[in-house]
Amino acid sequence: MHKQLPVVCFRNLVTRIFVCALTCVPFIADAQGKKEPALLSGERISINDGWLFMRYTGEPDKLSYDERPKVVNRNDNIVADTKPADSVLAESSAKSLKKWILPSANDFIKDPASRHIRPEGDPGNDFPFVKNDFNDNAWEKVSLPHDWAVKGPFYTEANAIVGGGMGRLPVQGVAWYRRKLDITAADAGKQIYLDIDGAMSYAMVWLNGYLVGGWPYGYNSFRLDCTPFIKPGGDNQLAIRIDNPANSSRWYPGGGIYRNVWLTKLHPVHVAQWGSFISTKNVSASAATIDLAVSIENKTDSDHTIETVTDIYILQNKPGGVEKKQAGFQKQVTSVPAGKIVQVRNTVIIKNPLLWGPPPEQKPNLYRAVTRLYDQGKLIDVYETRFGIRSVQFDAEKGLLVNEKPVRMQGVNQHHDLGALGAAFNTRAAERQLEILHELGCNGIRMAHNPPAPELLNLTDSMGFLVIDEIFDCWEKGKTPLDFHLLFPDWYEPDTRAFIRRDKNHPSVIAWSFGNEVGEQYIAEEGAAVAKKILAIVKEDDSTRPATASMNYARPDMPFPAVMDIIGLNYQGEGIRDAPAYEHLKGIRTTPLYPSFRQKFPNKFIFSSETSSALSTRGTYLFPVVKDISAPVSEGIGGNAQQQQVSAYELYTAAFGASPDKVFGSQDRHPYVAGEFVWSGFDYLGEPTPYYSARSSYSGIIDLAGFKKDRFYLYQARWRPSLKMAHILPHWTWPGREGIVTPVHVFSSGDEAELFLNNVSLGRKKKALYDYRFRWDSVVYQPGMLRVVTYRNGAIWASDTVQTAGEATSLRLTPDRNSIHADQKDLSFITVRVFDKQGLPVPTAANRIRFELSGPGEIIATDNGDPADLESFGARERRAYSGMVLVIVRAHAGAKGVLTLTAQSAGLTSAKTTIGVH
Ligand code: GAL
Repeated sequence: MHKQLPVVCFRNLVTRIFVCALTCVPFIADAQGKKEPALLSGERISINDGWLFMRYTGEPDKLSYDERPKVVNRNDNIVADTKPADSVLAESSAKSLKKWILPSANDFIKDPASRHIRPEGDPGNDFPFVKNDFNDNAWEKVSLPHDWAVKGPFYTEANAIVGGGMGRLPVQGVAWYRRKLDITAADAGKQIYLDIDGAMSYAMVWLNGYLVGGWPYGYNSFRLDCTPFIKPGGDNQLAIRIDNPANSSRWYPGGGIYRNVWLTKLHPVHVAQWGSFISTKNVSASAATIDLAVSIENKTDSDHTIETVTDIYILQNKPGGVEKKQAGFQKQVTSVPAGKIVQVRNTVIIKNPLLWGPPPEQKPNLYRAVTRLYDQGKLIDVYETRFGIRSVQFDAEKGLLVNEKPVRMQGVNQHHDLGALGAAFNTRAAERQLEILHELGCNGIRMAHNPPAPELLNLTDSMGFLVIDEIFDCWEKGKTPLDFHLLFPDWYEPDTRAFIRRDKNHPSVIAWSFGNEVGEQYIAEEGAAVAKKILAIVKEDDSTRPATASMNYARPDMPFPAVMDIIGLNYQGEGIRDAPAYEHLKGIRTTPLYPSFRQKFPNKFIFSSETSSALSTRGTYLFPVVKDISAPVSEGIGGNAQQQQVSAYELYTAAFGASPDKVFGSQDRHPYVAGEFVWSGFDYLGEPTPYYSARSSYSGIIDLAGFKKDRFYLYQARWRPSLKMAHILPHWTWPGREGIVTPVHVFSSGDEAELFLNNVSLGRKKKALYDYRFRWDSVVYQPGMLRVVTYRNGAIWASDTVQTAGEATSLRLTPDRNSIHADQKDLSFITVRVFDKQGLPVPTAANRIRFELSGPGEIIATDNGDPADLESFGARERRAYSGMVLVIVRAHAGAKGVLTLTAQSAGLTSAKTTIGVH
């Protein structure tokens, strides 16, 4: 990508050198060790700040992308198992700007005859909000990334316009963003692009009153060429219209410009958007072949002869370091005709490469390639490509091999929201999620079901996660009335190409998924034909990775799976509704299908792209406890509809789901299966199966606040077998249950365990083959202390204790980091716990806690991980759930000093914590 730098001048090379030297760009040493400043000839300027925002509360304007079917809301009281069918279609309305927007897709449409021609006219140019002189003083000041809906309030009514499925937050409707652009007289002659990493959804952009273009699919990044509309040195007004339909998603989409936005100023001859592709082959410890393709775009009306020089360095994340050139591609001279894009290909061998691979066995080493374009000896563009050197094999027998070493897929599915921060992307919040997942032993993420923020893939690269990058949840056959199926005919090609081209250099991306449980699975040849045409596009843009679409229905003998390079199964691998506790349920029922897929496709790699869909609320235990190893949640069996809670014995599932234990058993019985991606890593906003009056899901291994559920330890025991760990559940504070059976389960990486209640042994148990937990199901509750001692091969391995807590008396605050940057982005996540007078955590505490922050910063959200809590995430006061609350704080931009967070609750000793700001 074009690097983000504060100042660069095209005309004056001396100035450029001077400015770059001052701005501490990393110095690059060539083979002789001679220093040369890293010259960057374009600018990529963050324009996240300084926006004005307005969302219609009444009837919106009629400048819509297209006519859209009208949707009438229906009751969304959903019972376990079903997907929300909370609306029906009615008649349509509105006028369409689609023909002016479609040309924005042209660079991603292969057949010139299918590209779009912009019609005459300039729709919307007389609309006040697009005009430079419109008075927007009364609009709200916002910074991007921005999610207008996350602060709520939550819709609480049964027939809400946005129901539980989409998170009960006000995502729907039309909104506008306005901002002035800083384009000086010196920018005349440059190519000026607007780069939007993600806007939810139907973004349409006007500059100085002219409709520039747009991009409807909210998850893709896109570039618009503003050059024809800018006024160098003049007043440049940007206006962006966002239109976010209700009934357009099966989860919380967020609303607004929820990712970063950039203004990119380039020489008119430059590396094209996402214009480099680096792939590696013949990878070994002693050498690797690096293939490079660079697309050079000439936006002038004369031909140019361009010299391309690319050098490779080890990526250093700290600015200012000296980088040693590792290799250089041979200089190439190419003629780039006026108005054309020309691709230049090159190859080089790197000796003794530092390979990229997932920890803990391997290291995620990264490189960067710096491409320089020269025109008649003058440097006109510098473009950086980050990449990793690794080999990935998808072996039908041995599973996944990274650099020829077997790596079991221990992955999770993640939606894009960041809990209480909503969809607004924040790098630190995403990094925190990944850190917690690392601790779990997770090594893979399936981006369910859409392309992530680009920065998330930078994190998965540098932290070494294996990524299945996914683009669509539906194709022609929609799942909700206003989802992507409406866009599919015009946009499947450009969206697919944009997705692949943006993400293809990330070493963490090991495979593409171009569909999740699409309706086309059900329609034999016709469905397979749609799959084939999307797959062909994927392959044209990247033939180095396998591609798949996840199947929860297609059977081995149907035409659909035959299209896929690798077989990604959702739930049917381990069997759906085949366990005894599911017998009474209607719906798809199948034995484990791993063997039949294996038989039909003996040479194809098989993995589970979704497993489990186990449900639970952190720290909540309901009785009685089923004897089965897996059971569908229902009233009285793991579920309490009134409280909207699911028991955390971690045995209960969605009707089509399976407990982790059942999945582990099925995977272990079928050792050729390469691993799994659990549904889901974290709880997410929306889809609160089984209680659709709640706001967020129950399926996470970790709750919405980032607090670990008991299930965390069940996975950790399997995924980190050498970690000495043991975990007891439930908590042991049950006043009123004295003398009543209260089962105790233990998750441990040990193979034997002995449980003690008040120092009396309740028996020593061994895990049998296909057992993944220790259970003592007839323990009779008495207060005191439970202790477990686990063993591995007869030797003591790990232990855990839980004790009966008394009344809540105090609070304790624990920040994840007690020093943060004052850049408006860095965050501290503070865990609040309620304790009794002996210092034991009170696991049932539900005290209301008030928070105050003093110092140069602000509380930006609070949460407690309870899916049924409909208090706004912006609230400064919150009820503890199972004894815990989360507070998220950040510092004001440029501030220095100390933030002090105070927590107070009636009858409890209050608590304080401090966070340094630098
Ligand atoms: C799957 C689906 C996911 C999610 C999950 C819920 O069938 O692919 O998006 O809906 O079920 O458990």
